[in-house]
Amino acid sequence: MKMRNIGQSLAATALLALCGVQLSAAEIPAAAPKAYPEGELGRMVKLGEAIMNETDTHPLTKEYVGNKLKCKNCHLQGSDGKPGTAPGIATWIGTATAFPAYSKREKSVQTLQDRSNNCFMRSMNGKRIPVDSEASVAMATYITWLSTGMPIKQNTKMPCSPMNSDRWMGGAKHFARIQKKATHANYVNGHKLYEAKCASCHGKNGEGMGTFPPLWGKDKSGQWLAYNTGAGMSKLNKGAAWVKSNMPLGQGGTLSDQESADIMLYVDAQPRASFDLQKRLPPKCEMGIYNSKVLKEKHSVRSNFKQFGLDVDKIRGDHKIK
Ligand code: HEC
Ligand code: HEC
Repeated sequence: MKMRNIGQSLAATALLALCGVQLSAAEIPAAAPKAYPEGELGRMVKLGEAIMNETDTHPLTKEYVGNKLKCKNCHLQGSDGKPGTAPGIATWIGTATAFPAYSKREKSVQTLQDRSNNCFMRSMNGKRIPVDSEASVAMATYITWLSTGMPIKQNTKMPCSPMNSDRWMGGAKHFARIQKKATHANYVNGHKLYEAKCASCHGKNGEGMGTFPPLWGKDKSGQWLAYNTGAGMSKLNKGAAWVKSNMPLGQGGTLSDQESADIMLYVDAQPRASFDLQKRLPPKCEMGIYNSKVLKEKHSVRSNFKQFGLDVDKIRGDHKIK
């Protein structure tokens, strides 16, 4: 318990790192509980953990995934090797304490399973997984276990961990101010930085390599590889906040704000699947099946740039994006 408290206050200190103060993620201890629960509960925690590590190939989830990603690719493994325990932005430490939580996007109170399904539709470019399926319950069981011993702190503003809340809100505002000023020169700089600092793992064309996940584009068979335009990562400001905190792998916090902004200006200007909420929902979806008061939402690379007052053609210097 003591160790976890120390971890929490250090992680809170790291929130400051986002807007200037440098503190390496590796210095902050954050970890899952030492032991799994007994019996059937323990089995479900382990199943959830396995799914987070192999989402696009796991037999219980692969048909719901529309790209080559796994949950742990963005909810990174901490020093204990468990998905979602890394202390950077998008950690799952503390997440379960915030739920059920209010979400502005859905204009409804969301459960942890609802929230995970939103990552299935957007970050995983896939479909919602039934909330009474073993896989959905197992993922929620695993995420809940990570908050063992932490006090409930339901979130009235956004469906996320108290560890992430200020970081997303502050980071999004901060990077929006930077991105709104972007020009073609920032894109060119982002391209250069991408090749110097990212391409060795993610590939020159964002296609990924081995265990290094893809960032954009399609494979040879025409299947999309990465997150779609409805995902948090595809928003220029949120993507930059995540990258600043977590990348290059093991060196989170080393890029400057402008570098993070320019790199994601480049990455998010590359081709990726468009998001149309209605096409992602089960047929005849109603409240109760899809817990949301908002049933229409559409995004493309072009509209994601427009949101910041940017014309993607001018930013790229060509007309290659639909
Ligand atoms: C491409 C990156 C990416 C992948 C892959 C991904 N997520 Fe997320 N996830 C995010 C981002 C970004 C947020 C926060 C975005 C926001 O709130 O705007 C988030 C938030 C969440 C949250 C809320 C947690 C919190 O405290 O902030 C949960 C739960 C979650 N994701 C579950 C999942 C699950 C389960 C999977 C795998 C099925 C998954 N995610 C895959 C990027 C990703
Ligand atoms: C040393 C290799 C390495 C380098 C360099 C690196 N990454 Fe990553 N990156 C990874 C790995 C590995 C993951 C997934 C983490 C996991 O699964 O444990 C990842 C995950 C990501 C993700 C979320 C998952 C996805 O595919 O959408 C993004 C976005 C990302 N990296 C962007 C960058 C950017 C931008 C840079 C350059 C500033 C960078 N990375 C540099 C290895 C690297």
